[in-house]
Amino acid sequence: MLNAPQTFATPTQRVLDWYGQAHRKLPWRAPPGQLAEPYRVWLSEIMLQQTNVATATPYYFNFLQKWPDVAALARAEPEAIMQAWAGLGYYSRARNLHACAQLICAEHGGEFPRREAQLLKLPGIGPYTAAAIAAMAFGASAVVVDGNIERIMTRMFALEAPLPKAKPEIRSHMASLTPARHAGDFAQALMDIGATLCAVKSPNCTACPLQADCLAAKAGNAATYPRRAEKVTRPHRQGHVYIAQKLDGSVLVQTNGPRGLFGGMTCLPHSGWATKDAQGQALPPLPLAWQELKGEVTHVFTHFSLSLTVHSGQAADMAAPNGMRWVGLAQLEFEALPSLMRKVLAKWRESQ
Ligand code: ADE
Ligand code: SF4
Repeated sequence: MLNAPQTFATPTQRVLDWYGQAHRKLPWRAPPGQLAEPYRVWLSEIMLQQTNVATATPYYFNFLQKWPDVAALARAEPEAIMQAWAGLGYYSRARNLHACAQLICAEHGGEFPRREAQLLKLPGIGPYTAAAIAAMAFGASAVVVDGNIERIMTRMFALEAPLPKAKPEIRSHMASLTPARHAGDFAQALMDIGATLCAVKSPNCTACPLQADCLAAKAGNAATYPRRAEKVTRPHRQGHVYIAQKLDGSVLVQTNGPRGLFGGMTCLPHSGWATKDAQGQALPPLPLAWQELKGEVTHVFTHFSLSLTVHSGQAADMAAPNGMRWVGLAQLEFEALPSLMRKVLAKWRESQ
């Protein structure tokens, strides 16, 4: 049979060919055509969930050096893992990492399960990570969808629905492109195309292996995808937050009940902001000489935006009020603080 000329190759084949020559050499990857170690795929994918490649890379090397396999990580002291994670943020990822390693050793004989459905049951492993491990480490034809792949699919198929509405369509297009073999290479090729060619602002379509298959490139409007959802107008709420500090440096916090916006998480004492119109009333947790910091901390939630006035006060060596506790400054970063509270603390530190 004649060799098909390149233009008759499928988009999937073009992407795999491109990956063979142009892939980024990243430390957790196997060479094209080969499978990577599940431990390495898992560790890197968890780190890369909310962290970019350049930031995650030294952490990845450090973890591998300290804990070269899942059994070593399972045996580690939680504090050592938190310490090695410090600076990466989203500390629940580190707690889940340890829990997952221990579960794999206790219930899976120290081997990662191969099937996506089984991977999904492990702590910290969601649909994206389960698919990535199944494809990259076990060669399954799993459908991997990350932010880069979403952008590429909306452009290739000129999807008019905005995100997140377009997600089911994106997934089914990705599923129909995903090859039976080398699905891991295929997904990572798209990640590389997303990172190096299919940029958010000005995609370099002439260098892209998908140019001939891409509806948005043909129409010359690639940068207008993904479509934007109409701006929602959110109600605005206000409240007060209190940072009481004792002479030993410790700060007053409370752990929330299981329900609500920050259920189970640690917060600084605050006025609340639950009602629609009422401004949170200033209700200091302790009778101190409170000082109001200049400027508010603002945060945008799905259903409302919030401005918090920050008050700081020096406390004597007093007992914490009911339901509250004093936490040492160094321990604070290991608390399950929502990012709103981290913002408040950052502002307070600046003002010190
Ligand atoms: N981001 C998340 N996972 C990645 C991977 N495997 N390669 C490149 N970038 C990534
Ligand atoms: Fe993105 Fe352009 Fe490639 Fe289409 S042709 S996938 S818009 S870089």
